[in-house]
Amino acid sequence: MKITVTSEDIAKLPIDAVIVNLFEGVKRPGGATGAVDKALGRAIAKLIAQGEITGKNGETTLIHTLGSIKPRRVLVVGLGNQKELTLDTIRSVTGVACRYLRKLGAKRAATIVHGAGAGGVSPEEAAQAITEGSILGLYTFQRHMTKNRDEGELEELQIVEMDKGKIPALKRGVSRGRVIADAVILARDMVNEPANFMTPSDIADIAKKVAKENNVDIEVLEKRDMEKLGMGALLGVAQGSNQPPKFIILHYRGDKGNDAQNIGIVGKGVTFDSGGISLKPSEGMAEMKGDMAGGASVIATLKAISQLKPKVNVTGLIPTSENLPSGSAQKPGDVVKALNGKTIEVDNTDAEGRLLLADALSYGRKLGLSAMIDIATLTGAIRVALGTHCTGAFTNNQKMVDQLEKSGEKTGERIWQMPMFEEYKEQNKSDVADIKNVGGRLGGAITAAQFLAEFSEDTPWVHLDIAGTSMTDKEKGYLVKGATGTPVRVLVDFILSQAQS
Ligand code: BES
Ligand code: ZN
Ligand code: ZN
Repeated sequence: MKITVTSEDIAKLPIDAVIVNLFEGVKRPGGATGAVDKALGRAIAKLIAQGEITGKNGETTLIHTLGSIKPRRVLVVGLGNQKELTLDTIRSVTGVACRYLRKLGAKRAATIVHGAGAGGVSPEEAAQAITEGSILGLYTFQRHMTKNRDEGELEELQIVEMDKGKIPALKRGVSRGRVIADAVILARDMVNEPANFMTPSDIADIAKKVAKENNVDIEVLEKRDMEKLGMGALLGVAQGSNQPPKFIILHYRGDKGNDAQNIGIVGKGVTFDSGGISLKPSEGMAEMKGDMAGGASVIATLKAISQLKPKVNVTGLIPTSENLPSGSAQKPGDVVKALNGKTIEVDNTDAEGRLLLADALSYGRKLGLSAMIDIATLTGAIRVALGTHCTGAFTNNQKMVDQLEKSGEKTGERIWQMPMFEEYKEQNKSDVADIKNVGGRLGGAITAAQFLAEFSEDTPWVHLDIAGTSMTDKEKGYLVKGATGTPVRVLVDFILSQAQS
């Protein structure tokens, strides 16, 4: 979709639709909405008086102009309470409005800059949110459909602002929003892709393509390299599959003179998690094609970062494998040795993500990364604890998680910190090895995090469990059914914040 920024009178555009907004409780709209209302002979104010338009968050009201003004339609979107306006509201209402207009068959639409006036949001941030909301809200995954969906495409969104002075800032916002939204779409595509099209080798190929196109250094470790290094935990998971595992390393060097700072982002890349010999029930198992969402988010984040070019060093690590049962698969009770020398009793082969991450976090330490964030669809338990509205965070470094929570607020990809009390470690004790890969049913997301902590050791580290947030089963704002692309926007915002400070 083409997104442009222009300075003109939105009420005079010969276009399929214009999007204006309204805060709750406003009786007589002002600003750009007011100008359109005036051109419409106060139609909006009348509908407010009749109670048909309330301005409630997410409300949409379509007005056909029938030739009274140049735009064929006016779509009024509700922004809710003015004092509670957030960038995420702007993103969401834009996503909803764009889908609504696409359904109507609109090809070209224009929007005013939500929130930049009375909402108190900066024009640049508002334009970024509008761009992200429209691109992400209109996202579809149709690669494997031989017939296209009936709806056409919304081909162009014009962001219109009367004040010429604001145009450069709006353009900056659009260009950043596009980079970020395109990266999120890469992550969504990878997660939505069925496992027969997204093997560890496919992930490595995508990483190579992203690296090549964006001047990012890449290295892909093969099975024999992992054997040499001693990545026994990852190899144990991979041994049940005919697909070779890959260990992908991406380096973005934005601050070459500052080797001491190198932020690691480490993503679980299980391209299909059947559970292995500890086989999952077949109902819902197909969802496990998305068990590489963490890895996808790492590749997507590096894509965005390499285009935004902040002054900071970032290393992406993606351990990727299938988890399948077979005659060569690892068995419950097997003991494996991770890269850092610790032995692990594999009590349950379905707790495979932490095994991959054990080697990846150890590798990150070996590289001397200054901080690490791992991202993983790690436990069903985090869904029980937090549901689908936020990602669970676990840490050994409060400052890092505080910053990530801030980025979460700003991006609408919310993060909630979970406890890491010592006592939980007890549950991971093994009778035969240094540690066991499961800690029982109680506090399952926390014992999983405590397991990872044994491998991140004293490197400042945050673990993000995205098992509840990586996919959604319904449309909401700029999210559509399927992969969400979380937490790419959080990671990008976090990394940008590290570059500035
Ligand atoms: N990939 C799953 C976790 C998961 C569950 C992700 C639901 C997305 C949706 C993970 O590998 C897993 O199977 N975890 C087990 C751990 C258990 C065996 C300790 C789980 O959560 O049941
Ligand atoms: Zn599993
Ligand atoms: Zn898994």
